[in-house]
Amino acid sequence: MSVKQVAILGSTGSIGINTLDVIRSHPDRFNVVALTAAKQVDLLAEQCDEFRPAIAVVADADGALRLSKLLLEKKIQTQVLYGPDALVTAVTNSDCDTVMAAIVGAAGLVPALAAANVGKRVLLANKEALVMSGNLFMQAMKSGGGELLPIDSEHNAIFQCLPNDFTKAPHAHLGVEELWLTASGGPFRNTPLDQLASITPEQACAHPNWVMGRKISVDSATMMNKGLEVIEAFWLFGLPLEKIKVLIHPQSVVHSMVRYRDGSVLAQMGQPDMRTPIAYGLAWPERIEAGVAPLNLAQLASLNFSEPELARFPCLSLAFAAAKAGGTAPAVLNAANEVAVAAFLDSGLPYLQIASLVERVLNAIPVSSADSLETILSVDTQARKVAQDFIAALYK
Ligand SMILES: NC(=O)c1ccc[n+]([C@@H]2O[C@H](COP(=O)([O-])OP(=O)(O)OC[C@H]3O[C@@H](n4cnc5c(N)ncnc54)[C@H](OP(=O)(O)O)[C@@H]3O)[C@@H](O)[C@H]2O)c1
Repeated sequence: MSVKQVAILGSTGSIGINTLDVIRSHPDRFNVVALTAAKQVDLLAEQCDEFRPAIAVVADADGALRLSKLLLEKKIQTQVLYGPDALVTAVTNSDCDTVMAAIVGAAGLVPALAAANVGKRVLLANKEALVMSGNLFMQAMKSGGGELLPIDSEHNAIFQCLPNDFTKAPHAHLGVEELWLTASGGPFRNTPLDQLASITPEQACAHPNWVMGRKISVDSATMMNKGLEVIEAFWLFGLPLEKIKVLIHPQSVVHSMVRYRDGSVLAQMGQPDMRTPIAYGLAWPERIEAGVAPLNLAQLASLNFSEPELARFPCLSLAFAAAKAGGTAPAVLNAANEVAVAAFLDSGLPYLQIASLVERVLNAIPVSSADSLETILSVDTQARKVAQDFIAALYK
């Protein structure tokens, strides 16, 4: 068994920490060669002390100076770099063969694309990368010749329920009819609609089943997360949009399902613990211990499923509309949502304004073809500016 050389983009986040937790139990299988963070320098220094990567990256020069000092004190010989280009260097110059793409948001796109282009095994948690540049990303994976393993629990579940050779044959030949993405419905699944206006960031980040970063927690509350996942599934699995369905499943035990032509529905189940899909991606096609408690179905009173209420979750409808429009629309959706969620978390934008803002930005920017990275990054910048202008106008 050869030891896998792993780079973790976003090692200080929720996915990054869970990835290191799985790796910690398998020193015979995995060696960490690069770790990256944005601001959490102290935590990154601790991770470097434990895992001794060749490269560590932070967002800016001040952070790099502080990290270098901390590492020097402990005589750790990790090379310290900073800035967006250094995230690409962490992928291309660290001798990694496996890249966990777990930076949150659009900032993760360029390094994830770099990993795809140079043929790494890409463990994709950063769904925003695929939402923004699905076509480009899938082409990069193909020309790079690496393996793409979805880490999002729903897509990982579908990956596990599809036949091994699903990328090599049209779905119709394999009898795949539909993909069913499950969604917990978040913390406001049953909140009276007239109370949604006063939701606070703390309430939105208190997910009933999963412990996650703040941005994805808000996305789960609005169900924009599921909308982004529909677009992610469209690119990953190549089914027409109308064959990708969303089901509310409050227990988060069935992580997603595939319905086949003969009436079979295959589901992947487990605890709501990201270490399961992370371990699956790291070791695929083998299965390794992930530190996850066994699922005890007898202890669960029931498993419920229902269709999402679109009036409660307008972000889900907006994501379906952007997916249908195609081209640059999903990148606009993503950028507007990132700005809106950040404004909700940090600057008091009311919860219900998240969907309104995304809708206004989508209406303001015409859809064009998403045929190059330059076009995608330029539309991302434009959508952020339009969103910021709308927010500024709200407070005039
Ligand atoms: N958490 C989950 O259970 C889960 C499940 C499925 C999919 N995902 C996806 O996985 C990705 C990561 O989610 P998360 O919950 O782990 O997020 P998170 O806890 O917020 O962590 C984000 C990571 O990205 C780094 N980062 C943030 N902005 C950056 C920038 N501009 N440049 C470079 N690095 C930056 C952060 O560094 P600092 O810590 O230094 O700020 C941190 O390491 C997201 O795309 C999310 O949708 C997450």
